[in-house]
Amino acid sequence: MKGIILAGGAGSRLHPVTRGVSKHLLTIYDKPLIYYPIATLMLAGISEILLICTPEHSQSYKSLLGDGRQWGISISYAVQADPNGLAEAFLIGRDFIDGQPCALALGDNIFYGAGLSGQLQELARLEHGAAVLAYQVSDPQRFGIVELDADGKPLSLEEKPEKPRSNWAIPGLYFYGPDVVQVAEQVTPSARGELEITCVNETYFKRGDLRVSRLQRGTTWLDAGTFDSMLEASHFVQTVEKRQGLKVACLEEVAWRRGLITDAEMRERADEFKNEYRDYLLGLLDTRS
Ligand code: G1P
Repeated sequence: MKGIILAGGAGSRLHPVTRGVSKHLLTIYDKPLIYYPIATLMLAGISEILLICTPEHSQSYKSLLGDGRQWGISISYAVQADPNGLAEAFLIGRDFIDGQPCALALGDNIFYGAGLSGQLQELARLEHGAAVLAYQVSDPQRFGIVELDADGKPLSLEEKPEKPRSNWAIPGLYFYGPDVVQVAEQVTPSARGELEITCVNETYFKRGDLRVSRLQRGTTWLDAGTFDSMLEASHFVQTVEKRQGLKVACLEEVAWRRGLITDAEMRERADEFKNEYRDYLLGLLDTRS
């Protein structure tokens, strides 16, 4: 399965900061926000990634991430000229998708938890239809929502409802079969003028082709779209990293543990840094020797 990361949007909730820099390049504790969705896709076993960003920030992403070779993956780039909605990612990414199954990860969504990787890898084996996650939240009005029956099957979907039918939010990580481009082509703009991902999911739901995979309560899902949520995410990552001495979303580590880069490549990569990031990477090599 291929993977698209959507890092578009005007970032207006973060003005004036995002007048000069893309939201997804801002820091979540010790890494740029964009590292987190890349790690999520890598943990799902996905190695071919298209990053969609705004035209003015394209060069910054290329400088930061390159072609992905350093992590044993491939990263290519495309731009979303206007914030036309999440479903536009499939129209922009049509050639990249090239008739294959494809996941979509939102650039500001952070996932962390034991067993998560296995759950995502299973979803990434999907060959047709669609699969979404569901996560229990206290503020469902802010999200796409799925109502579930007693067996966890979807009963209805809604985008940011005033009166939500459930508190199961749909996080920004979606898995689709090869027909997602055709499905996205049929979506028309919503009242807020966007091609909504919920409309794509609804098409699969109406066909009886939408699977919902609930995230366990021990899994953390955060979206970092406001000053407060970015700070909270930073504190979360800091707490986990300081307590365990293990980093969250360290792309070299994920690549190395997945066998995408060798010990020698990891050492080379470590030598590019002159701070504790280097020590951390070299320390990982020591634990294996
Ligand atoms: C988007 C989706 C929403 C989803 C959320 C997850 O909302 O429209 O369905 O639950 O991402 O972060 P947005 O962040 O564009 O408000």
